[in-house]
Amino acid sequence: MSDNNSIYTDTFSDSGIPVEEPQRQQFFMQKARKIAEEKARELGRPLRAMVKTYGCQMNERDSEKLRGILDQIGYELCQDEDSDLVLYNTCTVRENANLKVYGRLGYLGGLKKKNPHMIIALCGCMMQEPEVVEKIRTSYRFVDLVFGTHNIYKFAELLSVAMISDRMIIDIWKDTDKIVEDLPAKRTYSFKSGVNIMFGCNNFCTYCIVPYVRGRERSRTPEAIICEMERLAADGVVEVMLLGQNVNSYGKDLEKPVSFASLLRMAENVSGIQRIRFMTPHPKDLSDELIEVMKTSHKICPHMHLPLQSGSSRLLKKMNRHYTKEGYLALCEKLRAAMPDISLTTDIIVGFPGETEEDFQDTLDVVRQVRYDSAFTFIYSKRTGTPAAAWDDQIPEDVVKDRFDRLLALVQETGRERSARFLGKRMGVLAEHVNEQDPSLITGRLDNNLVVHFPGDASMIGKIIDVTLTECKGFYYFGEV
Ligand code: 5AD
Ligand code: SF4
Repeated sequence: MSDNNSIYTDTFSDSGIPVEEPQRQQFFMQKARKIAEEKARELGRPLRAMVKTYGCQMNERDSEKLRGILDQIGYELCQDEDSDLVLYNTCTVRENANLKVYGRLGYLGGLKKKNPHMIIALCGCMMQEPEVVEKIRTSYRFVDLVFGTHNIYKFAELLSVAMISDRMIIDIWKDTDKIVEDLPAKRTYSFKSGVNIMFGCNNFCTYCIVPYVRGRERSRTPEAIICEMERLAADGVVEVMLLGQNVNSYGKDLEKPVSFASLLRMAENVSGIQRIRFMTPHPKDLSDELIEVMKTSHKICPHMHLPLQSGSSRLLKKMNRHYTKEGYLALCEKLRAAMPDISLTTDIIVGFPGETEEDFQDTLDVVRQVRYDSAFTFIYSKRTGTPAAAWDDQIPEDVVKDRFDRLLALVQETGRERSARFLGKRMGVLAEHVNEQDPSLITGRLDNNLVVHFPGDASMIGKIIDVTLTECKGFYYFGEV
């Protein structure tokens, strides 16, 4: 478990292995391709691979990169676990995410008994936890490859080893300061894409495991980000989502520091890109400059996902969030004053250690005042290694459940009211896919992220279509072209 190269050079004795990235990974993609071709010849059919993603958009984007590498190696990508390679890109933000993976692994073990040449690989946030790796090593011995978040760019190299080895290959790094550019990616959508602008998190909210599994903040250079956006635009992408754990800290760690607002100004100039989204800003350092850039932009979507976590200033302090209830409310007012139609969405945790009914009432109060378009609500989950997990004032399950239900009811009620405010308007909808239930309809999204179904055909996909919103069904609309 180190970041030296020994396991690769021990396996491959070639002297010609490049040292520099991404050339090194390209070399290993070729190497793996030869091994895969041989296997395919033996089986008399192409090899198939599936990548399953747990967790956030950051992981979704990582999976597109992993699929890009598998595609280069010659695997046919599929959605079916009964295939020659299964890779789970895992999440560990809440315990549920881990339990899902263990449950699924049992099933994969069964498939591998029928298909012994199958390769089972695990990566992502959950693998950064030593207890998890230990459990896999001892209880899931049929797994072939385990790697983490920091060496994901080495997938081709690790897979080359796993393909010819009969022991479990485990390679987890504690941290990295490296960002490897120019590796392939295979996008899920032709017309929209995530773009990483930074990796890691320095905030250490006391409930959150992300800083431990994703490491310290590292920003990509604006040049690399803009170049990727230009390439995506040339490839037909019209909407990008700029991704980072806390986008407001973007660029602070660069040799020549750049603010997130300046990055957005540069992004605005990429022709062909029509919509720009971002995720996630931290309320503690959302600048006036950012609000100004959003207000004057023609491309940045009028939507802000602004995690609240709790409405109680007392709890926010215990959470290490660096803002108060009043500060948060003032920020929302400032956003609405600058952009009256902006959609505000949020994340809220219920049952954080020490949460009293009074604290919880503060959370409800913020929801009532802000009137979010929608909110993700989470039951607090104890994450080993985080400060809050060791506190002894954990909240009983029945109390949490009751608060969760009350919060959800309120969030849904305000969300439904808010969503109806565009009824009768004519707005641009990015057509995303043919509706699964009714193939005469196309499903797309407004710039504020609301879903709209309207009559149309597949030729519209990837285009922004003017639609009149004729009927509001709570959280989505029906419309007419
Ligand atoms: N328990 C519950 N929810 C959590 N989140 C992060 N850590 C935890 C935890 N330990 C939520 C936060 C964050 C979102 C991505 O997940 O609300 O914004
Ligand atoms: Fe899950 Fe957080 Fe990792 Fe995303 S960054 S995959 S939400 S733990």
